[in-house]
Amino acid sequence: MQKRTHLVGEAFSVAPETQVTLMGWVERQRDLGSLVFFRLRDRWGSLQVRVNEGENPGAHAVARKLRAEFVVSVSGVIKLRPEDERKDEPGGDRELVPESIEILGESKTPPFYITDETPSDDTLRMQYRYLDLRRPPMVRIMEIRHRAFFELRRYLDGLGFWEIETPILTKSTPEGARDYLVPSRVQPGRFYALPQSPQLLKQTLMIAGTDRYFQLSRCFRDEDLRADRQPEFTQLDLEMSFVTRDELFEVGEGSMAHIFKEAIGVEVKLPFPVYTYAEVMSRFGTDKPDIRYGCEIRDFSGAFSGTEFRVFASVLEAGGAVKGIFVPGAKPSRKEEDELNAFVRKGGGGGLALLRVQDGNPTGTLAKFVDEQHFKALREAAGEAGDGTFMLMAGEPDALLPVLGQLRVHVAEAFSVPKAGGFQFCWVVDFPLYEPDEETGEPVPMHHPFTSPLEEDIHLLESDPLKVRADSYDMVMNGVELGSGSLRVFNPELQRRILRNLGMTDDVITERFGFLLKAYGYGGPPHRGFALGLDRIIALMAGTSSIRDVIVFPKTTSAQCPLTGAPSEVGDDQLAELKLKLRDGG
Ligand code: AMO
Repeated sequence: MQKRTHLVGEAFSVAPETQVTLMGWVERQRDLGSLVFFRLRDRWGSLQVRVNEGENPGAHAVARKLRAEFVVSVSGVIKLRPEDERKDEPGGDRELVPESIEILGESKTPPFYITDETPSDDTLRMQYRYLDLRRPPMVRIMEIRHRAFFELRRYLDGLGFWEIETPILTKSTPEGARDYLVPSRVQPGRFYALPQSPQLLKQTLMIAGTDRYFQLSRCFRDEDLRADRQPEFTQLDLEMSFVTRDELFEVGEGSMAHIFKEAIGVEVKLPFPVYTYAEVMSRFGTDKPDIRYGCEIRDFSGAFSGTEFRVFASVLEAGGAVKGIFVPGAKPSRKEEDELNAFVRKGGGGGLALLRVQDGNPTGTLAKFVDEQHFKALREAAGEAGDGTFMLMAGEPDALLPVLGQLRVHVAEAFSVPKAGGFQFCWVVDFPLYEPDEETGEPVPMHHPFTSPLEEDIHLLESDPLKVRADSYDMVMNGVELGSGSLRVFNPELQRRILRNLGMTDDVITERFGFLLKAYGYGGPPHRGFALGLDRIIALMAGTSSIRDVIVFPKTTSAQCPLTGAPSEVGDDQLAELKLKLRDGG
């Protein structure tokens, strides 16, 4: 094999007539008889190769044998293409005219061709990931990911952070999912848990005086998978001692601004706006607000007081509310109206009343119940004077919000509501410490149980736990939760109270978290931190909707790896060594 002289992308800028040896994969071979064309591709680009039988019969004979994805070494001269054949793309002005071509590796016919277009069969893509990763859009994603990770390290190092690896074989770190367990051979009957996050160990590092820690950490969670969830994923995990919330936010915002600039050349606007949980729930009906557009939820109860519209009147009399959104420019048809009704019913809402505004006047079935005064009040409450549609619901105020929140996102797409461009970040703060368990109604941590309550709410811990707010925060962008964090409980007694509130006995607390509480007994500093889901962030940067596209070897929704076949069965001898026996059905 000859020595490679240039990467394909480097050959785009060498002087014409330069002698080169390039190596890579063959694509689009066209055999026109005495002329054979193909493209030679590597990670840096692809270049046309022209082989003329008359000029070089040896290379021509090899070129005729080439098939898609053969690996070749091509030695020859870079020539400018005739002016009228030049393409407006990198390297499009030139071609390689070979003196010799060597086949280094052959390829079977690939199950899909390597182009910019994404193959439609996702499992096939994962099974042949090595082919999928050759596609230029995937190369770009891998580059963005690499650049972002590299720049995060550089940025945080500049602020005095140390990157510290915490163990993968560890003890359970509750983050709301099931643990992945690893049996111990030397301690039969005992199991390690893979970390759902490094939460407890980063807290321990603060007790150790590390002060500023970060890690691009792999986390493992056995939970229902979706487009934005994988069983193993990567967080920017970070913790700081002796800092205010604003100081921590500055680090989070600075990290994002830095990597968006360095990895995709986008300037992020700083600082990020901060909203309380209570505020976003009432304005957007979700704790992940997409603030690129308006259509915010408003209370129209006042505008409908004394209304003759029976549905609204009876709800208002019973102490309920009329809430809704105004969608500028929307003119739903009868069919669309039915679809919107079905949408809110599916989301748990009773139904939707629409009031269209056309040429400045109310129209539609609800219009006859809306006199001039009501209409004026409605428009004032909405803060909107143009044409469009009010989408209204009546019911118990807190129950209306999530449904309207989903409707807001849905109609923004359905009626093409204009959105501010780019990446709109914000922080959501002061989440409830607990939320009621869906089945039992008992308080369960909304974040994780190491989150500190707001000082002024601590007295409610036992008497009214669901009213306690936490010193916690989420970073949100374009309606996606990127990450979350909090002030940690660094007083072991307060930590015990919070865990007891979750129904744990002192024995269970000691067994599960004794090591942490013990450590805080030796001088724990006040500290706070966060973890950002890097897969989600890279997906947003790359403009793809699934984090599977940005994880090099991802898993299917049934947590399988089509490339390697994991998870796989293990032999009886391995089970015997671990002193494990499969139950029936296992
Ligand atoms: P949390 O559980 O909110 O917080 O996780 C932080 C962020 O990690 C991402 N994420 C995921 N990404 C892909 N697949 C998953 N299965 C998955 N689960 C979570 C999300 C999420 O916002 N220890 C705390 C943070 C802290 O308090 O410092 C934690 O892990 O983007």
